[in-house]
Amino acid sequence: MKLGVNIDHIATLRQARKIDYPDTIEAMKICEKAGCDSIVCHLREDRRHIQDKDVFRLKEEITTKFNLEMCIAKKIVDIACKVCPDMVTLVPEKRKELTTEGGLDVISQKHEIKDVITRLSEKNIQVSLFIDPEKDIIEASKGIGAEIIEIHTGEYANALTREEKNYQLQRISGSIDLAISLGLEVNAGHGLNYENVSEIAEFSQINELNIGHSIIAYALFYGLENAVKKMKSLIS
Ligand code: PXP
Repeated sequence: MKLGVNIDHIATLRQARKIDYPDTIEAMKICEKAGCDSIVCHLREDRRHIQDKDVFRLKEEITTKFNLEMCIAKKIVDIACKVCPDMVTLVPEKRKELTTEGGLDVISQKHEIKDVITRLSEKNIQVSLFIDPEKDIIEASKGIGAEIIEIHTGEYANALTREEKNYQLQRISGSIDLAISLGLEVNAGHGLNYENVSEIAEFSQINELNIGHSIIAYALFYGLENAVKKMKSLIS
């Protein structure tokens, strides 16, 4: 199972002072040296952390795989078409949210999302849809031509009781089986940390886990290279 490291919060720390450090390129290089399989960042419309210059520089320097998270707004899609990352993960975006809340509404936005998939595919960019573990949404994703999905693990991560966690694990498990049976590649992420990642990593059909906040938080005390290595060893 692969590990994609989301480096948004390196930029969060930098943007707190609007200066030029800590540098996302330096962070990316340490993550790659520590054995991550891809680098993920989210270019938000409000530019609260990652900036346009980050994505253009990352595109030049990443040697593993560049997975750009973004919403379907035209201006952002235009930027993605200029940057040409290896992969785009489409996510919903709300201005006031602390972090991505919930998956894409693939059912009511199917035409808009399909158009974006077409535009990005024309640039040879792989497209993944960040979705909740729901049968209808997985089928709708397949229906509009998605080849990859990322299952939102946030509800599992936020579950307070063992019972609720088991329920969420069952939802995720059923969703993975359905997606694989439809020929979709399955990634997963959101809210995963050193405590809870093993239960998700037991689903061996998952191709890649995308993890950000917990790795950067651990890195503050123990270093980024150690943080990535520890997560990588937990999931593999
Ligand atoms: N996957 C997606 C689609 C996300 O939006 C995020 C958060 O940016 C993550 C994974 C990583 O989530 P976390 O920072 O909670 O590990």
